[in-house]
Amino acid sequence: MIGLGYVGLPLAVAFAREGCEVIALDLDSRKVAALERGEPYVEDVSAEDLAEVVERLRPTTRYADLAQADAVLMCLPTPLSANREPDLGPLTESARGLSEVLQAGQLVVLESTTYPGTTRERIAPLLEESGLAAGHTFHLAFSPERVDPGRRDFTLRNTPKVLGGLTPTCATRARELYEIVCDEVVVVSSTEAAELTKLLENIFRSVNIALVNELAMLTDRMGIDIWEVVDAAATKPYGFMRFEPGPGMGGHCLPVDPFYLSWRAREFDMSTEFIELAGKINQQMPYHCVAKAQRALNDRGLSVKGARVAVFGVSYKPGVGDVRESPALKIISLLRGLGAEVFYHDPHVPELGELGLQSVPFDQALADADLALIVTAHPEVDHELIATRARLTVDLRGVTRSAGSADAVRL
Ligand SMILES: NC(=O)c1ccc[n+]([C@@H]2O[C@H](COP(=O)([O-])OP(=O)(O)OC[C@H]3O[C@@H](n4cnc5c(N)ncnc54)[C@H](O)[C@@H]3O)[C@@H](O)[C@H]2O)c1
Repeated sequence: MIGLGYVGLPLAVAFAREGCEVIALDLDSRKVAALERGEPYVEDVSAEDLAEVVERLRPTTRYADLAQADAVLMCLPTPLSANREPDLGPLTESARGLSEVLQAGQLVVLESTTYPGTTRERIAPLLEESGLAAGHTFHLAFSPERVDPGRRDFTLRNTPKVLGGLTPTCATRARELYEIVCDEVVVVSSTEAAELTKLLENIFRSVNIALVNELAMLTDRMGIDIWEVVDAAATKPYGFMRFEPGPGMGGHCLPVDPFYLSWRAREFDMSTEFIELAGKINQQMPYHCVAKAQRALNDRGLSVKGARVAVFGVSYKPGVGDVRESPALKIISLLRGLGAEVFYHDPHVPELGELGLQSVPFDQALADADLALIVTAHPEVDHELIATRARLTVDLRGVTRSAGSADAVRL
């Protein structure tokens, strides 16, 4: 296993739990040291999970150790560069490291989300610097990760796993591997089809979230409650899928991955309008939410300047501590720019180093705030209590809708 982050660590633990010996490699020596101490650092892996597999999980920072593996899964980040183009740096650096120790007969699978063609055009040639031939003397496949951090009902075991091989034999080898940890493996005809499958899933979410967000901005002007409309539409038993409005998209996937395809599409003289439009609308949401908070304060005769604003929930989604691309960060910066004094409460995020903030206790946040702004609704936080106790509540997640909290201003 290469890359022990949100994707790689749970996968490593899943294989170890099934009895496989797992060499778990990360260049970040702090992660390797934490695993050696039995201390997990992602929500989906507990200390008990690590204790259960301690005999079979070998954390390391050395690529040379991978020479002993039958299969190597690459779970590396695929970020965007400063000018919003795919940054394959971590992938290519890792493929080079692996090529130095690659063995005949090994299976290599790329799990990172990326544009169609990456496995064949970028990873295969780098691995072939080993002198081995992809699809001949070693096997190569792509299988996208579908993990939804913090989710309990759909796990690696009961979520079908899509994969595509460079050759049919590559696909068969990869299928045999994933059948150890997944109940259902879905084989597609090529690595490109598997790469695009993952992007379709992410773009589908991004576009549908943008659609409901655009309607939320419209219903705000029209004086219609978007939550009521979404609830009502969701009673249709077919042809409608529920998506909820919110303060914008966060995390490693949705704000980033679709643009891997936009970039690739340009080579084929296509501009991917849906992706661009969804990105544009979702990026507007933090601004819309701040304007909404500003109006709510104004209605009570308060200005943002000098207002004490408690942000509840700063991670990008409920139940996790991941703040990558979280709209809360943008909202906090915008509010500060307008002169507000901002503090936050988040049971999953002890500090926001970049913003120089630390999570304050729930009661203190509530007591000190002129405005309680619910940005991410963690399940363990009592939002009803916020809505009934706070001087003013702006709820960007529709969690204060039940009786008794009629005063809260909602997105
Ligand atoms: N996080 C999710 O929910 C999720 C879900 C599905 C797919 N994905 C995709 O999976 C991939 C990995 O995402 P993640 O969230 O696990 O990222 P992450 O940043 O949490 O983990 C990646 C790990 O790779 C390590 N790393 C970087 N360069 C390395 C190198 N050269 N050699 C060894 N290790 C190296 C990093 O130290 C880090 O621990 C991305 O392409 C992402 O889009 C993520």
